[in-house]
Amino acid sequence: MTDDAAPDPATARIAAALRTRALPPDEVFDAYLPEELRGVSVQYWTPLAVAVRVARWVTEFELGTVVDIGSGVGKLCVAAALAGTGRYVGIEQRPRLVTAARDLAAAFGVQDRVEFVSGRLGEVPLPAAEAYYLYNPFGENLYGPSGRLDEDVELSRARFDDDCAAVERLLRDAPIGTCVITYNGFGGHTPATYRELRIERTPTAALRLLRKARRR
Ligand SMILES: C[S@@+](CC[C@H](N)C(=O)[O-])C[C@H]1O[C@@H](n2cnc3c(N)ncnc32)[C@H](O)[C@@H]1O
Repeated sequence: MTDDAAPDPATARIAAALRTRALPPDEVFDAYLPEELRGVSVQYWTPLAVAVRVARWVTEFELGTVVDIGSGVGKLCVAAALAGTGRYVGIEQRPRLVTAARDLAAAFGVQDRVEFVSGRLGEVPLPAAEAYYLYNPFGENLYGPSGRLDEDVELSRARFDDDCAAVERLLRDAPIGTCVITYNGFGGHTPATYRELRIERTPTAALRLLRKARRR
């Protein structure tokens, strides 16, 4: 599909369902991903139910721009954009996932509110954001070979520590009012200056929204 193509009727139905908060099965949405990236969805990509909850919070708290740190195939960004307001920017270290994410945004016609930056946290500039979303992005560094998506990037305990520290610094230096939404945590500690506003527990993980309430 080219950037200018209108979504086909099936795609439009999925988009409409998400807008009315009616959840299509994840497999229906995942069918828009390259085949080799569908099977790993349960392990790596945000479920639609969680994306819709994120969209509700983003809409409720009028969060303008959400940056998904480690955006993978763009499932959270695209599904949440379809389900609510807000602009989403994903940053992703694996170029092939960035390509898949851009194709997904184009398939659902949300390129005006969703974009993807190719690169590694700390190596590409992050846009200003009202909120950061993190779905345990660095956990893969701690898994054995069978738990890794591929061998395309360096994965190590040292990287895990560096990336967690980078997010902690980002959150520490962010202006008051900045939100962070975590699904299954991010591996590091959210500074004590953030207050938890919402929490929802799924059978496998907790989804949390915290907002920075004070400088120190
Ligand atoms: C668990 S997946 C989550 C994907 C997406 N946020 C979602 O919820 O569907 C984590 C992703 O983070 C990416 N990632 C991990 N460390 C990263 C880093 N330092 N910079 C950019 N991307 C990173 C991985 O390549 C992977 O695609």
